Amino acid sequence: MKRVFSGVKPTGHLTLGNYLGALRQWAEVDQHRADSLFCVVDLHALTVEHDPARVRRLSRQAATLLLAAGLDPQLCTVFVQSHVDEHARLSYLLECVATDGEMRRMIQYKEKSGRERERGGSVRLSLLTYPVLMAADILAYGADEVPVGDDQAQHVELTRDLAVRFNQRYGHTFVVPKATHPAVAARVMNLQEPTSKMGKSDAFGPGIVYLLDEPDVVRKKVMRAVTDSGLEVVYDRGERPGLANLLEILAACTGGEPEALAGAYGSYGALKKDTADAVVEVLRPVQARHRELCADPVHVEAVLRDGAAKARAMARPVVDSAYRAIGLLPPAPEPVADRVLNAVR
Ligand code: TYM
Repeated sequence: MKRVFSGVKPTGHLTLGNYLGALRQWAEVDQHRADSLFCVVDLHALTVEHDPARVRRLSRQAATLLLAAGLDPQLCTVFVQSHVDEHARLSYLLECVATDGEMRRMIQYKEKSGRERERGGSVRLSLLTYPVLMAADILAYGADEVPVGDDQAQHVELTRDLAVRFNQRYGHTFVVPKATHPAVAARVMNLQEPTSKMGKSDAFGPGIVYLLDEPDVVRKKVMRAVTDSGLEVVYDRGERPGLANLLEILAACTGGEPEALAGAYGSYGALKKDTADAVVEVLRPVQARHRELCADPVHVEAVLRDGAAKARAMARPVVDSAYRAIGLLPPAPEPVADRVLNAVR
């Protein structure tokens, strides 16, 4: 059976982009066909200025939303990254395989560090090394596939490069994974700025649909989406990005094709209305389940505790073998007498 790994970063409230680009695929497809692990990658939330209480709150919320989106702990493993030490352990080894040039070429690093510098802030070193930690997340589990939105493709490419390089230098240790993307809505764009990705913490807040937005808020945001001055509804990502984004969202929510849907609409207003309704309907069950889960935080905690135990057991042998392969001296086993004593204590 294939192994699948993916994750979401608790740097903001989860968006429609996260859902259509990743979560929905995990819940509807991946968990049923593969041995899957889904992770709230909280260490990644520390790469930019953060408020500790907010990261904790968002981590809990993200985990609850993963379950609300339909991840079933009977079918897959759901856990929090910082509960499993193997991620950080492996990340350091991979830093010894990656180069600083490779890190500086990462698009997300260039964009985020550029923005931070413009604001006069300092750039955390972890923002530069972040893709290595992401590679560790994936390689620690021997994942074959990584279901993600388009924006993560470069990071998964780097993961492949690091796995191949490590294997060539130190002997076969890692599975070389590949990224998979949904057929539509692999990059949902901001409704107010349709040439930028809908991110969790964009400057263009009114253009972001959050998973927990009330129906009337969703409707307002979609109805006010920026389009263009044309009249005819056509699907053209390059020339008509706002319209194309709406058509993709509608297609993703209703199971249609953006091109075919374009032909069915005579006006932008009608397209917006149907898109708004479709998004509200897609989010409705997720929000209902989220409310139920919020009323039972003990259940969510138990899922995360069990998930971390399962994840640890999977990652530990892989990371241990990487430690051996790279040349680190294995610790001597405990003397038998101590082992017996520890067991009876
Ligand atoms: P993050 O938290 O930004 O996003 C989580 C998932 O949602 C997808 N996504 C989108 N898809 C379509 N349209 C959008 N507007 C949109 N916004 C986000 C992302 O592609 C992603 O699949 N670096 C990762 C988290 C991560 C990870 C990993 C992922 C850390 N380690 C290991 C996979 C495997 C990130 O920042 O995702």
